[in-house]
Order: sequence, then structure tokens, then C-alpha cells
Amino acid sequence: MDNIKKLREEAETKILSAQNLEDLNKLYIEIFGKNSALANLTKNLSSLPPESRRQAGANINQAKQDLEKLYQTKRVSLVTNRKSTQIDVTAPGKKQQLGHLHLVSQAIEEIVEIFSKLGFSLQSYPEVDWDWYAFEALNMPKGHPARDDWETFFVDAPQNPKYGRQVLTPHTSNGQVREMEAVKTPPIRMINISRCYRRQIDVSHTPMFHQFEGLLVDKKVSITDLKGTFDFFTKTFFGPNRITRLRPHHFRFTEPSFEVDVTCGVCAGRGCRLCKEGWLELGGSGMVHPKVLEAGKIDPKTYTGFAFGWGIERTIAMKTELPDIRLLYQNDIRFLEQF
Ligand code: PHE
Repeated sequence: MDNIKKLREEAETKILSAQNLEDLNKLYIEIFGKNSALANLTKNLSSLPPESRRQAGANINQAKQDLEKLYQTKRVSLVTNRKSTQIDVTAPGKKQQLGHLHLVSQAIEEIVEIFSKLGFSLQSYPEVDWDWYAFEALNMPKGHPARDDWETFFVDAPQNPKYGRQVLTPHTSNGQVREMEAVKTPPIRMINISRCYRRQIDVSHTPMFHQFEGLLVDKKVSITDLKGTFDFFTKTFFGPNRITRLRPHHFRFTEPSFEVDVTCGVCAGRGCRLCKEGWLELGGSGMVHPKVLEAGKIDPKTYTGFAFGWGIERTIAMKTELPDIRLLYQNDIRFLEQF
């Protein structure tokens, strides 16, 4: 009996005087382990006379329980104490916010990858260019009314006698003749991605936007090649169930010319509020006009080609059902984080 009392008091003092968790952890085995004094008392129970055995057993158990409780209370107090005074290296860290590419950059990467599978290589042509490349070489002579469609910003800089004024390119088609000049002898398979500028702003226009222009020139290129290219792009970029159609249109630099439409992703072509008749317009295209090939010093009797030019922002809007493309340039993190 006295043994138990003494043991208990000693153990209590040890627990209460532990300075830190490490000390306390060590005490656990010493007090409750299988070679501890408490354990030995239990082992020795059988050597006690039967009359006192029962009481002694109960006392040992009680002592164990009380000590265990005291131990846990002490532990909690040491942990709480430690939190306020020490750094807990095991606590989970604060998560670093990871950024990602802007939606437009993501789309550019994706588009380049899709066209590279078809053998188109990415070229880069000036964003501020001569009137000649932006209009005149594309069969739009000075003063031609077709130019009005491009709502162009002109640069206030000296003119060049041959190339005329400088413009902020209103489309990426300026890359067509530049590419012909660079390659000289077809085949040509280029994609030109660049910023473009037009005097327009509303839900589907921003004054600065991006276009990607495709140009393929070779022997015996036909409209079926153009259609096949669009189908491949559309199915890869928008999804396998989307299809394209060509709608007759007019551009001075292609003949024949088409607008390319894609079935609407919301209603799958049945017609809904977003698309009205089941189709969404992607952009312009056509077979390269012989006069443009001539401007690029390529013989239109030997070579034919197709070209297309689409807005990247518009393409993104069609894929993600963006209601207003101006959102792309408002730098609102809450919007950008969603992609
Ligand atoms: N450049 C035209 C536009 O901006 C698109 C286009 C490109 C059309 C190539 C035909 C061929 O609208």
C-alpha cells in the first residue's frame, strides 16, 4: 500500500516538473512502460496474500488512471505553451499562390501546337507595317473602299515612296506577302500570330486584339485542303463534335472568299440565344488571289494557296462562352483565375 502511494507521489512530481514535451515523452516509458515500477507492482501482485491482493490491484489501477490523466493534462499544457513560444515546424505551411499563363497566351500555345501538327511553322511579322503589306499588296489600292472595313490607325511618320504610310496592322494578313518574299519558292505553310489594332470597342471587339493567320501555298492546293485544315483545327481546339461550314463572302485578297462558321457548343447546332441559328462565326478565309501571289513574286499559274485569319479573343470567347471579350483585358484576378 505504502509502496503504491510513494510511487504515485514520485511519478506525480516528475510529471509536473517536466519542462518540455521531450522530457515528458521520456517519462511515459519510465512511468507506464513494461519495466516500470508500476508494472512491477502489478507483476508482484500474485505474491501477496489473497486477502490483500484485490485491494492492492484496485489501488494500482487507480494510480495508473490518475497518473495517466495528469500526464495528458500536462501534455496539453506543454503543447499550448510551446505554440505560443516556439515555431511548430510540423504545422502545415501557407500555400504559395501559383499563377498561370493568361488565357490569350494559353490559346496561342494551343493554336501553334495544333497547326504545327499539320506542318505549319510559326513566323512573326511586324505589328507596325507599311500600307503596302497591310493593304496594297493585298489587292486593296489606295483609296479603295474595301479598306474602310479595317478601321485602321495610321502612324504619324514619314512615308516611304514605294510602301506608303505606316499603320498599326489591322490584321495579320500583312504577313502573307512578307512570307512569300521570305520563302521565295513554295511550299509555304506558315502561321503568323500577332497583335492587331482597330478603332473599335464593344462586347466583341477591343482596339488591340490578336489574330492568327494561316497561309499555305503549293502546287494543286484546293478548297478541300482549306476545309480539311479547318475541320482538323476545329475538332482539336473545340472538340470532336464540332463541325465547320464555309459561307460565301468577299475579301479583296482571296478568291473565292469564305467566312468560316463552327457549330455552337451550347446547343450543338440546333440554335440558341448565343448563336441564334446554330452557327458561330470564326473568321475569314479563301483561296489566295492571283494578284497577291504576284505581289509576292510567286507565279499564280504554277501555284495556288489558301489563307485564313481569325481573332484569338473571339476564338476563346467561343470556346469558353465568354459574354464580353473586354473581360480579357481588365486584369481582374477573379476572372483570370477561373481559367
Ligand atoms: N484579314 C482578314 C480579316 O481580318 C481575314 C482573312 C485572312 C480573310 C486571310 C481571308 C484570308 O478579316
